[in-house]
Amino acid sequence: MTSKIRAAITGVQGYVPDYILTNAELETMVDTNDEWITSRTGVKERHILKGEGLGTSVMGIEAVRGLLEKTKTRPEDVELVICATVTADMHFPDTANLIAHAVGIKNAFCFDLGAACSGFLYALTTGAQFITSGSHKKVIVVGADKMSAIVDYTDRSTCIIFGDGAGAVLLEPDTTGHGIIDYRHHCDGSGVDLLQLKAGGSKYPATVDSVLAGEHNIYQNGRPVFKAAVSGMSSVVQEVMVRNNLVTDDIRWLVPHQANIRIIETVSRMADFPLERVMINIHKYGNTTAATIPLCLWDYEDQLTKGDNIILTAFGGGFTWGAIYIKWAI
Ligand code: UT7
Repeated sequence: MTSKIRAAITGVQGYVPDYILTNAELETMVDTNDEWITSRTGVKERHILKGEGLGTSVMGIEAVRGLLEKTKTRPEDVELVICATVTADMHFPDTANLIAHAVGIKNAFCFDLGAACSGFLYALTTGAQFITSGSHKKVIVVGADKMSAIVDYTDRSTCIIFGDGAGAVLLEPDTTGHGIIDYRHHCDGSGVDLLQLKAGGSKYPATVDSVLAGEHNIYQNGRPVFKAAVSGMSSVVQEVMVRNNLVTDDIRWLVPHQANIRIIETVSRMADFPLERVMINIHKYGNTTAATIPLCLWDYEDQLTKGDNIILTAFGGGFTWGAIYIKWAI
C-alpha cells in the first residue's frame, strides 16, 4: 500500500461518426486500390463526420457525454477538461470549452492542446499533474480530430490514411499504486517541413491564393516521417522501460499511435513485443491523430485487467513523440 497520489484512468469512452469511407470508395476518388492501401498502411476503412457545420467538438461531446454516464460522474464535479486536437472547431474559443458547455460541465477550466498525433499523450501527462499535485480530483482528457476537414481528397498519399474520431478518459487520484507511473515526452521542431498544415495561422493567414494552393490541407513527406516515427517510438518506449526496470514480459499491452500498420509492426518487433499484446485498430478507423490511443483503450477495454502494465506511445507532427507507463486501475 502506498500513499503517493497517482493519476489513474477510471473510465474511457470513444466515439466515431456513422459514415464509413471504404477503400473501395477511395478507389473511385483517387488513383489507388485496396491492395496498396491495405498492404502499405493497414487501413481498410475510416469513419468520416459528414454534415455542414459539424466540427470536432461534435465527436468530443459524444465521447465525453458517454464517459460521464459510464463513470456516473456529475458534470458539475469535473474541474478540468483538456482537448488534444489539431482540428479545433475554430481558432478560438477552444474546442474543450465547447465540449464542456454542451455536456453541462460548468465548474471546470478548459483548454486545447496541440502536439498533433502525440496530443493525447501530452494532454494526459498535463492533466495528470493536476491530480498528482492534489489540487484536482476529476480531470477529463479528450483526444479528438476531424481529419477529413484538413485532408485533400485528391492527394492519394494522405487521403487514404486519415479518419475522424474522438476518445476521452477520466483521471482521478489513486493511492494504491495504480495509474500513471512515468512518462517521457520529446519534440524536435526541425520536422516542421515534413509534416504540416501551412496556412491559416498567423504566419500565412488565409488568402484566396492559399486556398487555391491547397495550403489549408495536410502536407506530409511520408517516407522520412515513417522513419522518424519508427525510431522515435522505439527509442522512447525503450527509455521508459529502462527507467522503470521493465522487461517486455512485464508489459501486458503496448498501445501505439495508429498511423501505419508497418510502423506498428516495426516498433513492436524492435521492442520485442508479440503482436498479440499490441493494441491495433487502424484497419477500422485509420489515423485519427489525437484520438487513436483513447480509441484503442476503448476498443480493448474488455481485455484490460486491473494491475495490467501498459505503455502508450505516439509520434506526430512537430515532430513530437513520447511514451507513458500506466498500471491500469479499473
Ligand atoms: O501520424 C503522424 C505521423 N505520420 C506517419 O507516421 C505516417 C508515415 N508515413 C507513412 O505511413 C507512409 O510513408 C505512407 C503511407 C504515407 C506512404 O507509404 P510509402 O510506402 O512510404 O509510399 P511512398 O510515398 O514511398 O510511395 C511509394 C509509391 C509511389 O510510387 P512510385 O514513385 O514508386 O511509382 C507513390 O506514388 O506508391 C505510390 N503511392 C500510391 N499508390 C497507390 C502513394 N500513395 C499511393 C496510393 N495508392 N494511395
